[in-house]
Amino acid sequence: MRPKACIFDLDGVIVDTAKYHYLAWKRLAKELGFEFTEKDNERLKGVSRMASLEILLSVGGIQIDDASVKEQLADKKNTWYVEYISQMTKDEILPGVEDFLKMLKENGIKIAIGSASKNTMTILNRIGIKDMFDAIIDGTKITKAKPDPEVFLKAAQELNVRPEECCVFEDAVAGIEAAKAAGMKVIGVGDPSILKGADKVIQSFVGQGIELIEF
Ligand code: BG6
Ligand code: MG
Repeated sequence: MRPKACIFDLDGVIVDTAKYHYLAWKRLAKELGFEFTEKDNERLKGVSRMASLEILLSVGGIQIDDASVKEQLADKKNTWYVEYISQMTKDEILPGVEDFLKMLKENGIKIAIGSASKNTMTILNRIGIKDMFDAIIDGTKITKAKPDPEVFLKAAQELNVRPEECCVFEDAVAGIEAAKAAGMKVIGVGDPSILKGADKVIQSFVGQGIELIEF
C-alpha cells in the first residue's frame, strides 16, 4: 500500500529548532534562578508551549498558581524564541528533506505540515519552502495538543484524503501516538529505541526513496 499523502511534523523533522527552544527555556530558567539542562529539555519535545512551561517549573521546583503569571512567562520565552528563529536560513533545513519532498510531489503524493507550533509560518517563511505544501495545520488551528490526533485529522481533511491514506513523519513519542490515534501510518525520525510505536524509523531523509512509504 502506498499512501496518497504524507504529513510532516516541523520541529525535529524538517528543521532542528529544538536548540532554539532550549536556549529560550534555559534563559527563562536562569531568570527564575535555576539551571535547565539539555537532558531536561528532552522532555519538552513535541509538548505544547504551556505544558513545556509546567515541566520547566517542576524541574526548578517552582509552583505558580496564577494563570496570568504563567502566560507572561510563556510569552517571555516565546519572544526570545522568535528572536532566534527570525535569523534562520534555508541552510537549516535538515539533510535530505527538500529532495524527499520533491520526490513525493513527482510521485503525485500530497504533502502537509502537522505541527503544534504557533510559530510554524515564521519558520516556513524563513526557510523558504512554505509553497511546497498542499496544507499547513499548525498550533494556531488546533485546540488539542498531541497525542490527540486533531492536528493530523485536520491535515487529512484539508488534503481531501482519508486518514488511512496518510503517512506521518514524527520525531516525538507524543506525535507518534497522535498519528496512530488518527489511524495513520507513522515513520519515526530519530532513535528507534525511543520511537518504538512507529511503523518504521529512519535516522535521516538522506537517500530515502518512494519505497520508504510503501507498506
Ligand atoms: C512543537 C515542539 O513542535 O511545538 C515543542 O516540539 C514546542 O517543543 C511546541 O513547545 C509549541 O511550539 P510554539 O512555537 O508554539 O511555542
Ligand atoms: Mg517534533
